[in-house]
Amino acid sequence: AARVDYPTSRLANIKDLKVNEPMPIHYPDMDSPGVLVKLGARVPGGAGPDGDLVAYSTLCPHKGYPLAYDAKDRTLNCPGHFSRFDCEKEGQQVWGHATQNLPMFRLTVDAKGDISAVGADELIYGRTRNVL
Ligand code: FES
Repeated sequence: AARVDYPTSRLANIKDLKVNEPMPIHYPDMDSPGVLVKLGARVPGGAGPDGDLVAYSTLCPHKGYPLAYDAKDRTLNCPGHFSRFDCEKEGQQVWGHATQNLPMFRLTVDAKGDISAVGADELIYGRTRNVL
């Protein structure tokens, strides 16, 4: 995937998060909604002391419908044409029409527990290139 660095943006503190309860975020700007989730178990690409923090765009890569989180299987699901993306596998598409995986926002966590987004690994829906 084409990793792209955006300006660093503070999203939350670890203490603000409950396991498997997504927090709405915007990154890298207000036109790009997403979610930040503490999954509760280490995953590929996960950040933080437990390796379980992930953040994703919630604009479906197919046609930009807003994705909804399903806490039962930790997927993001599209109401438009029902694509599904696995939050435990770096946004891999598990079913549907999209032709790319879901953009994952790369995270860093500092000593105080502040979580920041620092980049994206796929093109965010609706953008012709991944720069501000
Ligand atoms: Fe999400 Fe079509 S917009 S599957």
